[in-house]
Amino acid sequence: PETITIQELANRMAERAVDVIRLLMKQGEMYKITDVVDADTAQLVAEEMGHTVKRVAESDVEEGLFSEADAAETLRQRPPVVTIMGHVDHGKTSLLDAIRKTNVVAGEAGGITQHIGAYQVTSPSGGKISFIDTPGHAAFTAMRARGAKVTDIVVLVVAADDGVMPQTIEAISHAKAAGVPLIVAINKIDKPSADPQRVRTELLQHDIQVESMGGETLEFEVSALTRQGLDELLEGLALQAEILDLKANADRAAEGTVVEAKLDRGRGPVATVLVQRGTLRTGDIVVAGSEWGRVRALVSDIGEQVKEAGPSVPVEVLGFNGTPEAGDRVAVVENEARAREVTEYRARQKRERLSARTGGATRSLAEMMR
Ligand code: GTP
Ligand code: MG
Repeated sequence: PETITIQELANRMAERAVDVIRLLMKQGEMYKITDVVDADTAQLVAEEMGHTVKRVAESDVEEGLFSEADAAETLRQRPPVVTIMGHVDHGKTSLLDAIRKTNVVAGEAGGITQHIGAYQVTSPSGGKISFIDTPGHAAFTAMRARGAKVTDIVVLVVAADDGVMPQTIEAISHAKAAGVPLIVAINKIDKPSADPQRVRTELLQHDIQVESMGGETLEFEVSALTRQGLDELLEGLALQAEILDLKANADRAAEGTVVEAKLDRGRGPVATVLVQRGTLRTGDIVVAGSEWGRVRALVSDIGEQVKEAGPSVPVEVLGFNGTPEAGDRVAVVENEARAREVTEYRARQKRERLSARTGGATRSLAEMMR
């Protein structure tokens, strides 16, 4: 099973086991060096201690599922994938809704109020931007731990009337740990009590130096309520994306990540998948975690059925035999037999992992951070 003792983990990092234990104990549990932790926890500990982690395929069964890097000549520009983070009630959801509505009103038939996990908008200058509405920091961390790097840019929302708060600081460290550039949105600028300058100063104390204070970090004063600054924010994201020069090969079997999944009464398991490489098509056989299925239908972020979805496009996938989990990586495989082989192997691994658990020692760090 995918576990490691604290001693072995410390050895591999050339760190002292006592330091590993100290870090784990911050989450409120007692540990001995002979305790085991699961791979997700081990990875987070390693990253927390400043190590880079490369997780290798666990077995031959997994091998070849996610293929190697694409040749340079196959790469084409792709839209950035943006995640919004910030403290509770600072306006993340409002901001996403406002951006989406502005866009929907401008482009498609209006009136979309339904909340969805991921969608794509067009910036004023015409470039596409994909947004993921994070289900919270814990989920972001869990995704990262599973090797799913879904985000290209983090938008840090800070309410101008509240300033930098604990989860703002947490979001900053998540973005830093993931090596993802950050753009600051100072929200609720419409409020009489708004004090954006205070936000800038407070950010400075956390090593975020915004442009207007001579730094490199783009910042925008916005209001989800009045929509002030939203176009500028989108342009800023497009600019940042240009700098990042994001590319992917669209002409290959699709790979991606589940950003949200649920069991729908009428439609069965529905997974919102962000395609990251290749093109996903109806009829494809996909695996995600320990679930698989034949893609029966693909539904776009505006509720339209589509035949295919390319890099950076979020799409609802219908046809899974069971409900996968957010953070599960998605891959297209050659046939059903291969899909069964992979998912049965994973299900077995999962069972073994569960039975190997000893007390609280193997809870994932994502769970601990909740
Ligand atoms: P959580 O998901 O609970 O962490 O909150 P959130 O960050 O998604 O905040 P949400 O969008 O739910 O907004 C919290 C409250 O702030 C709501 O009552 C919003 O109406 C209000 N709000 C959000 N943006 C603005 C804004 O720009 N101006 C004003 N005046 N109020 C805002
Ligand atoms: Mg919210």
